[in-house]
Amino acid sequence: MYAFCISFVYLCAIINAKGMLNIPFKETTMIITVISFKGGVGKSTISQNLAVTLANEGRDVCIIDADENESSNIWYSFRDENLAAVPVFHVTNRTDMSKTINTLNSRFEIVIIDCPPAIKDTTSRAVAKSDFSIIPITPTGGSDVWATEKFLQHIELLRDRLDAPLPCYFAVNRYESNVSMHKAYLEALDAYQEQYQVGRLETIIHKRSAYGEANANGLGVVEYENPKAKKEIKELVKEIMTIMSSVTV
Ligand SMILES: Nc1ncnc2c1ncn2[C@@H]1O[C@H](COP(=O)(O)OP(=O)(O)O)[C@@H](O)[C@H]1O
Ligand SMILES: [Mg+2]
Repeated sequence: MYAFCISFVYLCAIINAKGMLNIPFKETTMIITVISFKGGVGKSTISQNLAVTLANEGRDVCIIDADENESSNIWYSFRDENLAAVPVFHVTNRTDMSKTINTLNSRFEIVIIDCPPAIKDTTSRAVAKSDFSIIPITPTGGSDVWATEKFLQHIELLRDRLDAPLPCYFAVNRYESNVSMHKAYLEALDAYQEQYQVGRLETIIHKRSAYGEANANGLGVVEYENPKAKKEIKELVKEIMTIMSSVTV
């Protein structure tokens, strides 16, 4: 009975009134890299929405924009200062990446690194320094599959070189339920998951204009009026928070 009461109290502490997970993170900063070999797959969209959702949950979170195109940096410039704070730091070279991560380490609970569509020193450094990485993928065609495989091979090399697990999770983005090829693509991903030891976030992000509209206004979809987008992003973030709790130290 005593054990049951303890478990119940613990469960109540984990699930707060909003239904979001209230998980005690590790004491040092959690670093999450959002990365892929391809442009346009939703790295910046997922980075921004992850950061905004966590910030609205009261988390102290920032973004490192590692892309020369400054998508997240520009998005930030449109963000109203009365909204939940999501500072963005623009860093595009390896040395500055290490320095910035070290500096932000003591200042934020969570640092999200929005990467360019390339494997280079800066992004490899980001992956190496991260607790885990998220790989957005759009199930739109053969080149997505090939680019994903190339990227996973690079992760394997990095894992061997660093002798570190470097956990990675696919996040399916721009999914259209009525496109049969998209379903087939999910099956192809299953094979990669086994071969390259990559997880997959169960929540699928659908193609919705709300993502572009929120982005153009410096918002995340949780701050925008599209209930379906809001719901799926909250579910995605809940899953990511569960992963964060599994790396609690
Ligand atoms: N789920 C989605 N539905 C509709 N448009 C999306 C979605 N995700 C991203 N986009 C749009 O696709 C474009 C590329 O997304 P972005 O996040 O900038 O990709 P990346 O950072 O990988 O280059 C942007 O215009 C963005 O608004
Ligand atoms: Mg981008």
